[in-house]
Amino acid sequence: MANIKSVLIKIKRQPTPDASSAWEEFEIPYKPNMNITSALMEIAANPVTRDGKQTTPVTYDSNCLEEICGSCAMLINGRARMACSALLDHLEQPIKLEPLSKFPIVRDLAVDRSVLFENLKRVKAWVPIDGTYDLGPGPRVTAEQQEQAYPLSRCISCCCCMEACPQFNEETGFVGAATIAQVQLFNTHPTGHALKHERLAALMGDGGIQECGYAQNCVEVCPKDIPLTKAISEVGGEVMKQALSELFRR
Ligand code: SF4
Ligand code: SF4
Ligand code: FES
Repeated sequence: MANIKSVLIKIKRQPTPDASSAWEEFEIPYKPNMNITSALMEIAANPVTRDGKQTTPVTYDSNCLEEICGSCAMLINGRARMACSALLDHLEQPIKLEPLSKFPIVRDLAVDRSVLFENLKRVKAWVPIDGTYDLGPGPRVTAEQQEQAYPLSRCISCCCCMEACPQFNEETGFVGAATIAQVQLFNTHPTGHALKHERLAALMGDGGIQECGYAQNCVEVCPKDIPLTKAISEVGGEVMKQALSELFRR
C-alpha cells in the first residue's frame, strides 16, 4: 500500500437489534501502521460517508487495544478476527467490516457474546475455593503442568472460534471450542480437578462435545493460537471414559 493516500472501508450498520442492516462506505486518509480500531476512531471523528452524507459514529466494542481483552472481534473481510490487531497495510481494499454473524446484534459491529459466559458457567470453568479466608498455599504445580496449562489460559473469550465453527448454531446448541478448552484447563489444575466429573458430565448430551465435527476451523482463527483441537480430542476421550464407566456401573 506504499502510494495509497486513502483507505476505503465498507461497514455493515444496524442501529438497533431489530432494525434492518445497510452498508455505508467511508474513505479515510491513509496513515502508516493503522489498525481497524484506529480507522474506526478516525471515522468517529468525522462521521461522513464517502458520498458526503453525515452519519453517526460506528458502534463497536474495544478496550485493551492489544489483543488481550477479547472485546473487538468482528468480521474483517469475512474472517473473524480482532480489530485492534488487524493492520490496514495487510488488508485488501475495500475493507469490509461486519458484526460476528452468530451472536445477537447490539448495534453496528457490537454483538452480545454472553452465550460464551453462560457456557463457561455451565461447565463450572473455575477453580473452586472453600470460602474467602486464607487457605494457605495451594498444591504445587510442576513446570510441565504449567507448560500444558499456559496455552489454554491465554483464551480471551473473543468468540472467534465459535463464529468460525460450522457446528456452533441454534440447532445444535453446541458449547463451542473455547468452553471445551477451558474444561481441559480447569480439569488439569490440581485444585480445579475437584469439579472434573461435573465438567465432563456437562459436556455430555445435546450441545456437548459430541456435536464437534473436528472441522478445525476454530484453531485456524483463534488469535491466541490455543491448541483447540488437541484440547477437544483430550476432553472428548475423558468424556467417553466417564460415560462408559457410568454405563458399566448401572
Ligand atoms: S473442530 Fe470444528 S466442529 Fe469442532 S469446535 Fe472446532 S470448528 Fe467447531
Ligand atoms: S479459544 Fe481462541 S478464538 Fe476461542 S474464544 Fe478463546 S481466544 Fe478466542
Ligand atoms: S481491544 Fe482488546 S482485544 Fe482488541
